[in-house]
Amino acid sequence: MDHPLINPKPMTDKMFLRFSRFIQDELGIKMPEVKKLMLQSRILKRLRKLGINSFEEYHDYVFSPQGLKDELGLMIDVVTTKKTDFFREPKHFNYLVETALPRILGFRTNPYKVQMVVWSAGCSTGEEPYTLAMVLSEFARTQKKFDFKVIGTDISGDALRKARMGIYDSEKAEPIPQVYKKRYLLKSKDKSRRLVRVTPQLRYVVDFRIHNLMEKRFNIRISPDIIFFRNVMIYFSRETQEQVLCNLCRRLKPNGLIFTGHSETLTGLAVPLVSLAPTVYRKK
Ligand SMILES: C[S@@+](CC[C@H](N)C(=O)[O-])C[C@H]1O[C@@H](n2cnc3c(N)ncnc32)[C@H](O)[C@@H]1O
Repeated sequence: MDHPLINPKPMTDKMFLRFSRFIQDELGIKMPEVKKLMLQSRILKRLRKLGINSFEEYHDYVFSPQGLKDELGLMIDVVTTKKTDFFREPKHFNYLVETALPRILGFRTNPYKVQMVVWSAGCSTGEEPYTLAMVLSEFARTQKKFDFKVIGTDISGDALRKARMGIYDSEKAEPIPQVYKKRYLLKSKDKSRRLVRVTPQLRYVVDFRIHNLMEKRFNIRISPDIIFFRNVMIYFSRETQEQVLCNLCRRLKPNGLIFTGHSETLTGLAVPLVSLAPTVYRKK
């Protein structure tokens, strides 16, 4: 239940500093002074949900032992930016199938079927990992020795819940090529609800896990061949970008690839990556 009448006094500078420091230190997300109004309006959603009428009281609650257990994840859900799309920055998916996969498979000496692991790091509500799963499934139809698994991770539990459900408004599915829509999406039986759902076969090949990219440890043993790390580090400071990229590189298989967002540049970062194509990098 919402409490729409909750109308607290504006967030003080001191409170902003406390919230922003936590977000920067723990999530890596830059939170300069200019973002104060945005942060305030996002956190206000939680105050209205809980019926709390001051940012101070909310702050004390969220960082109390009970709040750390019950509320912190929900605060993280509202402070993260989760904009994403199916087939976002589509050139990457062409590059993946036409150049990257044949190249990586060429390195393989093992004649038997080997499972390739692709990690969507900062996967939001699942559109990116499901796009990968569609494209890789199509590739697998023609390459009998090819098998794959997609892992999607994010810091937001709410985003991951939506991702696991795999249910989207049909407008969201518009960028998906028609042939893929037929093969990988189911339409809602209830025609008044314009919804689609990813098929169980596609959901089966994508594994979603909660993971904070600021943490060095990753509770998934397998090393990825490819990491899609797109439109996440744009929110990080240069120092955090370097730290997180180095950590991802440690996880990546030798010769593995990292794809970044089109507006994200690695210029000037001390990371063990060489450029292969715009926003596509190979581990040194
Ligand atoms: C803008 S979305 C990008 C989604 C997708 N990669 C794409 O390009 O469409 C950024 C995602 O990164 C996640 N994120 C931000 N900081 C994170 C962190 N420290 N660890 C894990 N995920 C994080 C957010 O929750 C959000 O879902």
